[in-house]
Amino acid sequence: MPDYSTLNSKIRDENECFVLESIDSTNDFLSNLPFSKTTKICTTAQQTCGKGQYGRTWHSEKGGSIIFSISRFFPHNTNLNGLSLVVGLALLEVLNAENKVVGLSLKWPNDVYFKEQKFAGILLENRTDKSGQTAIIGFGINYNLSENAVADNWSNLVDFMPQDLDPVDFTANLINKIIEFCEIFEVQGFSYFREKWSKFDYLKGRQIECENFSGTASGINSDGALLIKTKHKIAALYSSKTLIIS
Ligand code: BTN
Repeated sequence: MPDYSTLNSKIRDENECFVLESIDSTNDFLSNLPFSKTTKICTTAQQTCGKGQYGRTWHSEKGGSIIFSISRFFPHNTNLNGLSLVVGLALLEVLNAENKVVGLSLKWPNDVYFKEQKFAGILLENRTDKSGQTAIIGFGINYNLSENAVADNWSNLVDFMPQDLDPVDFTANLINKIIEFCEIFEVQGFSYFREKWSKFDYLKGRQIECENFSGTASGINSDGALLIKTKHKIAALYSSKTLIIS
């Protein structure tokens, strides 16, 4: 079982770090703390009520998953569109720094894939008060889930990363990268990351359908919205709720 007790010493800058044995949801844990400008991090060995996108459940296993959330303060005028894309990009940078991996991609707006299989997801939740807003960035990564827990369209980090990958160092590196990217994002917005993100675009060129239109996924704009080329126009999609790959 990885020992996360040293995590705090490996994370840069001022922050408050909570290393828990078990919790319902690391996102909920941070959301329930008093509103604060300090960056807060919560990681746990076991998550009993993990939340996925759109009210889905996020499955994880003790020792088989990497689970953490970061609460990051932003001023009111920071447009948080595109932040989940930046966070996904942070994961690919860390994985590629450890070991150049062919086949990693980012499925707009918050899934991370190895070839045709998802292995990580991001859940972003926001809070506001009169001083500004906080983004609660939740990351769930399949590290080494048991065989019966991984369906055909899911993969694990150990399937494509070296077996000696240290989950604690890896988690610290990823948190540091997210903190670094959040600083750039706050000043320069998503446009700074757009070109980098585009190199890993899983949907590009695929036929997709959503509530109002269908067409070909054609990259993202400087706000982080998905561009869809229909018969008549290029439409920008801001939510993946009704998105289907056809
Ligand atoms: C998704 O792909 O649907 C997003 C999954 C996000 C899961 C993470 S695990 C840590 C954090 N706490 C939660 O309850 N959910 C996120």
